[in-house]
Amino acid sequence: MTVDHKNPELMEKIVSLCKRRGIIFQSSEIYGGINGFWDYGPYGSRMKRAVEQLWWGEMVETRHNVEGLDSTIICHPRVWKASGHLDKFGDLMCDCRSCKARHRVDQMEDQTACPNCGSKDLTEPREFNLMMKTYVGPVSDEEHIAYLRAETCQPIFIDFNQVRVATRQKLPFGIAQIGKAFRNEINPRNFIFRSREFTQMEMEFFCEDAESMEWFNYWKGERIKYYREKLKFTEDIIRIYEHEKLAHYAKAAIDIEFLFPFGWGELEGVHHRGTWDMSRHEEFSGTDLQYIDHDNNRKVTPTIIETSVGLDRTMLALLCNAYDEDTADTKKEGQETDVRIVLRLPAKVAPIQVAILPLSKKLAEGGEKLYKDLSSRFRSEYDETGSIGKRYRRQDEIGTPYCITFDFESAQDNAVTIRERDSMNQERVNVTQLREYFDTHI
Ligand code: GAP
Repeated sequence: MTVDHKNPELMEKIVSLCKRRGIIFQSSEIYGGINGFWDYGPYGSRMKRAVEQLWWGEMVETRHNVEGLDSTIICHPRVWKASGHLDKFGDLMCDCRSCKARHRVDQMEDQTACPNCGSKDLTEPREFNLMMKTYVGPVSDEEHIAYLRAETCQPIFIDFNQVRVATRQKLPFGIAQIGKAFRNEINPRNFIFRSREFTQMEMEFFCEDAESMEWFNYWKGERIKYYREKLKFTEDIIRIYEHEKLAHYAKAAIDIEFLFPFGWGELEGVHHRGTWDMSRHEEFSGTDLQYIDHDNNRKVTPTIIETSVGLDRTMLALLCNAYDEDTADTKKEGQETDVRIVLRLPAKVAPIQVAILPLSKKLAEGGEKLYKDLSSRFRSEYDETGSIGKRYRRQDEIGTPYCITFDFESAQDNAVTIRERDSMNQERVNVTQLREYFDTHI
């Protein structure tokens, strides 16, 4: 490793690599871009789906007590009144009268001067609501205002009865959802760390209040284990921040933080939400959301433990952790430059898991056949253009863990060379063994 992960320059390198290789880039770039919105390109979208799938597998597919949901982005506007978002969800902001920049007051080191131009001519701080507004139907008036959801968990609370009845789940059980959330952030920044449109992966676990702290600790443990074992984040780059100030209804809250190049930042929150959400939606909707405990003949308002993580922040953390510049052995593969940029991503989330590279265009038929065999099972790419060394470098830059070279001997001995990204070691494997090889290694 030659890269210091606390180095702010690392961020610039990652942003530039992401743009150059079609991983993530500014939305609407040909119109000058739109601040706080990012597009995931061919490699980014594949990686994003893989991360999403990993989380879904971990949180839903392998747990009989967690159900999935895919709700709408726009809900009844009263949902956001009940949740408190319309009244309280905002930041204090002020404007600089000189340069017209707008700032979040809590992020200003010196709250009397503009961080942009130094002017002291600032407006009084005022509340700024982060909910994004739209109109539903043909009339754009007060009555038809609706909001894009600011978090994916609210639809989970309001669909609680539907899911419970359909699945016959009993307390304790969870409902999980992955989807877009929108916040009109005053200062979107740090690439995809804080944007205005982003994806959340949230799980709300409904339980008895008496058992809630046990479940809180359970989910905290599960989530840390996930980062260590599945995303391969080592102890030095993740830490727990325990909230000191808690909401009046909560018994505990922690953030799982990641060491980004710009410092520690929140990746995920594990929150004890008490009975607040269910009580508020009962009050505002007039619908009974209590759980009937038939065994003990009583009604319970479930207490909620939440795990909430941003998919985009997970992507950024993975990219920061994976980025490396390697000077070892680069000449071995016939390269002129002595620096190799490599994303050391876990194979499970790499955009491409196997690249098939015929040594010559004359070997296209064999290479294409391999691609056909492997691409139904592993994220694969076929590339026959350029020198083999350059093709390896391209794959290193997008984090491909395995490259297969199909050479002139392959047609004779039915074997290919597999080159491993991190060690750059090569081994000869029979084509009939390839699926098994990758099943074990990926
Ligand atoms: N339901 C609880 C909730 O939404 P949050 O701390 O506001 O809590 C949860 O958000 C997670 O969503 C954060 O830990 C972060 O990963 C992600 N997130 C929040 N705001 C974001 C933004 N503007 N851009 C990208 N990700 C964001």
